[in-house]
Amino acid sequence: MSQNFRWKKLEIGVCYYPEHWQESLWEEDLKRMLSHGIGTVRVGEFAWNKTEPEEGVFRYDFFDRFLDLAEKVGMRVIFGTPTATPPAWLTEKYPETLNARMDGTLLRHGARRHYNYTSPIYRKLCARIVEKLASHYAQRPSIVGWQIDNELNCELDEFYAESDSAAFRAYLREKYGTLDRLNECLGTMFWNQTYTDWSQLYVPRPTISGAVNPHLMLEYKKFVSEAAISFAKMQSDILRRYIKEGDFITTNGMFGNLDNHRLASECLDVYCYDSYPNFAYMAGAPQEGMRDRAWSKHLSKVRSVCPHFGIMEQQSGANGWNTGMEAPAPRQGQMTLWTMQSVAHGADYISYFRWRTSPMGTEIYWHGLLDYDNRDNRRIAELDRIAARFEKISDVAGEDFAAQVGILCDYPNLFDAELDVWHGRIARLSEEGVFEGTQYAHTPLDFVYPSQDWSRYSLLFYPHPAIMTREIADRLERYVREGGKLVLGCRVGYKDEYGKCPVGRILPGLLPFVGAEVRESTFVNPDGGGICMKETYSAEAFRELLEPKEAKLIGYHDGVAFNRECAATERNYGKGTVVLYGSTLGADVVRHLLERHGLSEPYGDVVKLPQEVELAVRGKYLFLLNYADYLVCGEALRPLRNAETGERTLGMLRFFPFEVKIFLLEAQR
Ligand code: GAL
Repeated sequence: MSQNFRWKKLEIGVCYYPEHWQESLWEEDLKRMLSHGIGTVRVGEFAWNKTEPEEGVFRYDFFDRFLDLAEKVGMRVIFGTPTATPPAWLTEKYPETLNARMDGTLLRHGARRHYNYTSPIYRKLCARIVEKLASHYAQRPSIVGWQIDNELNCELDEFYAESDSAAFRAYLREKYGTLDRLNECLGTMFWNQTYTDWSQLYVPRPTISGAVNPHLMLEYKKFVSEAAISFAKMQSDILRRYIKEGDFITTNGMFGNLDNHRLASECLDVYCYDSYPNFAYMAGAPQEGMRDRAWSKHLSKVRSVCPHFGIMEQQSGANGWNTGMEAPAPRQGQMTLWTMQSVAHGADYISYFRWRTSPMGTEIYWHGLLDYDNRDNRRIAELDRIAARFEKISDVAGEDFAAQVGILCDYPNLFDAELDVWHGRIARLSEEGVFEGTQYAHTPLDFVYPSQDWSRYSLLFYPHPAIMTREIADRLERYVREGGKLVLGCRVGYKDEYGKCPVGRILPGLLPFVGAEVRESTFVNPDGGGICMKETYSAEAFRELLEPKEAKLIGYHDGVAFNRECAATERNYGKGTVVLYGSTLGADVVRHLLERHGLSEPYGDVVKLPQEVELAVRGKYLFLLNYADYLVCGEALRPLRNAETGERTLGMLRFFPFEVKIFLLEAQR
C-alpha cells in the first residue's frame, strides 16, 4: 500500500478537454463548474499536438491561457501527460513506436494507445514532451497534481512490436543469466523448444493452435508489467524534478498485465481509478450477479493499492462509443449511488467523466454531466445534491475502510490464472463466491496482497494459489500459528514460480501445517451435489479427494466424483485455524464459513439489512447502499444518527430505489 499524498476533505472534480471547445466557452464553463461544487479539473491527457505541433517545435500559449483563466477564477488543475495519444507526425515518421498485433500488423494512428512502451525513440520523445510540460507549467499555482499517461494497459495490454522482442530478450537475459538456466526454469525441453541463442527468443508469435510455452508466457506477462512500470517511472522521475512541494503524481488504473502495487509504490504519490459501473447495464451485459455492485470489488482492489484513492473518472452519463458499447443513461439516483460507492470504499476525490459530452469523435455517445445542448439537466441537479451531501460528511476523507476479512491475491497467480484455463476458471468462480458471500453477509472485505500486513485480518481466504513459493508458505504458516483463520480452496501450491508442476508439490507440499493431503483430483462438469457440511454447499468445476492427517474431516463429497469421501478439512494450528475446501468457494460456503468463525453480519447488533443493501464502514461513518431499483426494508436495532440530517432512527429503515443512507456509528458501539 502506498500513499504519499492525501486529500484533506472530500473533493469534487471533472474531466475537461479545453481543446474540444471554443475558447470563449472556457470561462463560463469553469465558473459554472465552481458553482456546482467542482473545484478541480483534469486536462491535457490527449493534447500532445497543442504543445508540440511538429517535431521539436514547442508552444505553450494554449495551456498558458487556460491556466491563466483557472487561476483567475480559482480552479485547481490536474495536468495529464499526453503520451497515450502520440501525434500523427510522430508515428508516421517513427512507425517503430507503434504497437502491433501478434502477427506483426502495426496498429496505426487513428484511435489511441497505439504505442509500445519499449521503443527507444518513443521513450525519448515522451521524456522530452513530459520535461517540456513539467518545466513550463509545474510552478503554476493552479496545478495541484499530474496524471501520467492515461489508463496504462487499457484497451490492449499485449505488446508485439519489434522493440518489445528486443526488450523481452534483455529482460530474460537479465533475469536468467544463461540460456541453460532459462531452458531449465521455463521447461523448454517439452516439444523441443530449447533455445540455443538469445536471438531465438521473441514475444509470443502466432503458432499452430495458439499454444505457446506457458512458462514463457508467464514471463511475458511479467515483462509487460515491467515495461509499463518503467515507462511510468521514466515520466515520474522527470515530473518529480519539477513539481511544486505538495503536488502529487498519479495515474488512472487499473488494468491487466500490470503489477499496480509496484506501479504505485515506485512511481506515484496517490493512485486513481476510473469507475464506470454502468458497464453492468450495457447491451449484452449479463443480467444476473452483482451487476453495478460488482464495482465494489474493483474499488476494493484499488483500495489495496492505495487506501485513500481518487476516482479520476466517475460515471455520470450513459456509456457509448459510436463503434460499440450501448448503455442507458444512469437512472435518477444512480450517479449518487455510484459516487457514494466509491467514497464508501475509500475514495476521497471524485472527478466526473466528463463536463460536457464530446461533440466529435468516437465518444460522441459517452455522456458527461452536460449534453451537447449545454443546458442544466437532471445530472447537474444530482451533482448539486451530491455536493451538498459531501459537505456533511467531508471529514470521511482519510478515514480507513474497516474490514476484518480479506481475500489474498498475488500477481503470479493472477497472471497464471489468465493463461491457464483450469486455474482461470476456478479462480474466477471463487473470487465471485468470496465477494458475493461477504456482500450478502454484510461482512466488509479487503483484497490483500503479499506486500501488505496480513496480521490485522481475523480471516483470510486464499482460494487457489496454484503457484506457491517457500516465502509465502512460511508467511501463511506464521499467520495461522499466530491466530489467523485461513481458508484454502482446491489446487493449492502445485506449481512453482514458473508455473511448472514439479514432483512433490501437491499438498501437503510446501504447506504441511494444513494437516491434510490431496489424494486425487478432477475437473468436473456440473456433476450435481456439492460438498456436505452443515448443509450441502456448491462445489463447482473441480473436486479434490482429501485425506485428513492432523486435520479433521468437516465435509464430504456429494456427487459423482469421490462420492461420500473427504472433501473438506479443518485444523487448529497454533492459535489459529486452517480450513481446506477441496473445490471452488461459492457464496453459500463462504457465508457458512463466515458464520462458523463468527464473522458474518459483524454489525448485526446495529442493523438488520436485506441482501440488496451493501454495508461499508469508514471511520465513524456507516454507509448503507441500496442497489435495487425497488424499495427494500431493513431495521435499525439501536438508535442510529443520520450523518447528514442529524435525525435519529430506530426500527424500520426504508431504502428507496438506489438510496444511500449514511449513519454515524461511533455513538452506537
Ligand atoms: C476511460 C478513458 C477516458 C474515456 C472514458 C470513456 O477509459 O480514460 O478517456 O475514454 O473511458 O470511454
